[in-house]
Amino acid sequence: MIIDRSASNHASRNGSPLRPTYAATPSYKPGNAGIADEVHPVFLEGRVAVITGASSGIGRAAALELAKLKLKIAIADIDDVKLQKVGKEVAAIVGDANVLVIATDVSQLDQVRRLKDKVYEAWGEVAVLMNNAGIGPKGTSWDGLDNWKKVFDVNVFGIVNVQQTFVPPMIHQENVAVVINTGSKQGITNPPGNAAYNASKAAVKSLTENLAYELRERPDSNVTAHLFIPGWTHTGLTGANSLGDKPEGAWTPQETVLYMLDKVRAGDFYVLVPDNETRREMDELRIMWTAGDIVEGRPALSRWHRDYKALFEEYMRDGLAHGTVVAILLSSNKYIRSEEGTVVEV
Ligand SMILES: NC(=O)c1ccc[n+]([C@@H]2O[C@H](COP(=O)([O-])OP(=O)(O)OC[C@H]3O[C@@H](n4cnc5c(N)ncnc54)[C@H](O)[C@@H]3O)[C@@H](O)[C@H]2O)c1
Repeated sequence: MIIDRSASNHASRNGSPLRPTYAATPSYKPGNAGIADEVHPVFLEGRVAVITGASSGIGRAAALELAKLKLKIAIADIDDVKLQKVGKEVAAIVGDANVLVIATDVSQLDQVRRLKDKVYEAWGEVAVLMNNAGIGPKGTSWDGLDNWKKVFDVNVFGIVNVQQTFVPPMIHQENVAVVINTGSKQGITNPPGNAAYNASKAAVKSLTENLAYELRERPDSNVTAHLFIPGWTHTGLTGANSLGDKPEGAWTPQETVLYMLDKVRAGDFYVLVPDNETRREMDELRIMWTAGDIVEGRPALSRWHRDYKALFEEYMRDGLAHGTVVAILLSSNKYIRSEEGTVVEV
């Protein structure tokens, strides 16, 4: 098999079933699977957003951006002092009557139920449920047991508590609604360093995929689920409080949130957000390499294995120059690049 991947034939990579394209063909979705209206019916004046982890970073930015779209905003966070401040910022945009500030620890089911009761008593519906609260204290494989428990209590059970409490009434609403769960690239590519955080975010990916499936199988449900996968964003979690100025590579929380809102508007389930250091092609290549560990029988986390470092770097170079498929073929040892620049099966 010969695949011509010379630079002049660059555009031909768009046809591969392994590699949905960015622009020409939007994707391999049947028909219009999403809601591609100018304005998604959930992001409308007077509808209701609930955002957890809203005292800081991405959650705060989401509250401000949704307030600019004139939604009613309920913000929840364990940090009540900062939450009150954000409440004032949001009220300055939408008015006091359209803001609920409810201190909530999402790991505590009774507090989540109280949050739901207050929102439904006040406004009777939820259009946007943003499960965003998250923490990242370090837990490696045989160390930091307390942190493992804390991370899972917030990052996983926080979301489970909110889903189990809010989704049942949301399913019975007539108007469309969205659940946006905040995952992480670390839950997909699994970089070494914080096994507890990575495992919690892998769980978020899994539970959100299942939520999406369960919702779409219900004929009476107008709710869709979305996995929000931020890039590097300058927030409390990544040192904004201690480091000060935003590093060049990171996006601001506002940039990340605006990108996310666009993709949810378009009906995307996987909202994979770039940053100033990592563009989408790089994320795609890294995700495909991670899946390739299983398919190719490589060691776990081979991207960080000394014997695979050079191969991974070559794969990234090839992928960025000529496309993901070529890079995958070359990384499998069954293909080489000929002197003419074509990829040849050996
Ligand atoms: N910043 C990034 O680069 C990045 C990248 C990928 C994913 N994320 C995810 O984005 C989400 C938002 O984080 P951020 O980056 O804005 O960090 P952040 O620290 O600025 O915000 C997280 C918020 O969650 C709140 N919180 C923590 N525990 C809580 C609890 N038990 N109940 C309610 N609220 C709680 C915190 O008080 C804080 O206000 C997290 O889920 C995080 O894992 C962030």
